[in-house]
Amino acid sequence: MHEPRTAVVIVAAGSGARLGLGEPKAFVRVAGRTLLGHAVASVLGMTAPAQVVVVAPTDRVEAAESIARELAGPVADLVTAVAGGSTRQESVAAGLAAVRGSVDVVLVHDAARAFTPSSLFDTVADAARATRAGVLPVLPVADTIKQLKRDGSVVGTPDRSELAAAQTPQGFPRAQLVAAYAGATVEHTDDAALFAAAGHAVTTVSGDPLAFKVTTPWDLSRAETLAAGRSSDVPVFRSGIGLDVHAFDPESPLWLGGVYWPDEPGLKGHSDGDAVCHAICDALLSAAGLGDIGGRFGTADDRFAGAHGDVFIRETVRLVAGAGYEVVNVAVQVIANQPKLAGRRVELEQNLSGLVGAPVSVSATTSDGLGFPGRGEGLTALATALIRSVN
Ligand code: CTP
Ligand code: MG
Repeated sequence: MHEPRTAVVIVAAGSGARLGLGEPKAFVRVAGRTLLGHAVASVLGMTAPAQVVVVAPTDRVEAAESIARELAGPVADLVTAVAGGSTRQESVAAGLAAVRGSVDVVLVHDAARAFTPSSLFDTVADAARATRAGVLPVLPVADTIKQLKRDGSVVGTPDRSELAAAQTPQGFPRAQLVAAYAGATVEHTDDAALFAAAGHAVTTVSGDPLAFKVTTPWDLSRAETLAAGRSSDVPVFRSGIGLDVHAFDPESPLWLGGVYWPDEPGLKGHSDGDAVCHAICDALLSAAGLGDIGGRFGTADDRFAGAHGDVFIRETVRLVAGAGYEVVNVAVQVIANQPKLAGRRVELEQNLSGLVGAPVSVSATTSDGLGFPGRGEGLTALATALIRSVN
């Protein structure tokens, strides 16, 4: 691989005092991933490979490096972590010291702006390379801003059209940024200010509302909401299990797997005793978190007295769809001495797949003569189901 021309220094060495969780902010999780992980993932989405330098609290350098390296997978060698300092500015300086020789543009980014889209990194890097100036993403300020004295009295109202809110990533030609840091004598609140104080030009590009900084508990809950919305594009898979047992009743006709079996002893039950269909229903309901067949289709409900298995399956699939899922597949196994399923297995699978609207596989076994199935007293069906959320 070519040596990277861009480096992104992700500062993650702060304590997160305003968040108040007692854990460094970058290691707080949103939607199962640390803020640092979200930030690194955004950088890894850039169009061209970039070196990633994570600046972490001294006792978290290894943890930060493994988070970033794991996400980087095959490009893990582009990732390093170093220890930060007691101010953000010191942390950035520590990160800059780890930037590789091949790099001509450096972006500095707050891990706390974890949801910044990858495209903003590309925009800032391209602009810094094209203009050879500092590049700052900004958003217009919505509120009227007041200039105050220390005692809280208002001194003035600056013209809002001349104001903007600064975000990160901020991009710079590497050599000028390193020199500006080396010469800095006061603390600046961002890198663009430090860069400008060194006499360099700073230009702006449009920021992104998603590049907001997670600072307070409210920001964190907002981040959770956003991440949940985003992850709704990715289906959620759930599995379920169902078991049904019925005793044989030689006086009844046998219905099993939704088909009629002439010359076979039937099964007892409020309905037709079709254990295969009932186990499938239970597996589907269990996967969707909808309880079980007894709770859904009670014996008190006349609609289901004597009903065949297809009625239950159709109604179950409707409930599962109503809960926001579609069926991926179902597997069902019959444990019984009889009937012998082998001869009608394909027919059963076709019938059940049609009812469920997804592949259903059917298998059978005996219990080696043991227990009630072995004594021929009854039949067990065991089913599993996999379902997937639909948007
Ligand atoms: N940062 C850093 N080193 C420091 C201070 C801050 O690397 N000594 C980083 C933070 O990890 C964060 C970014 O700078 O990603 C912006 O800082 P801020 O949002 O203020 O984070 P914290 O300092 O962690 O939060 P707080 O001020 O609430 O303690
Ligand atoms: Mg801070």
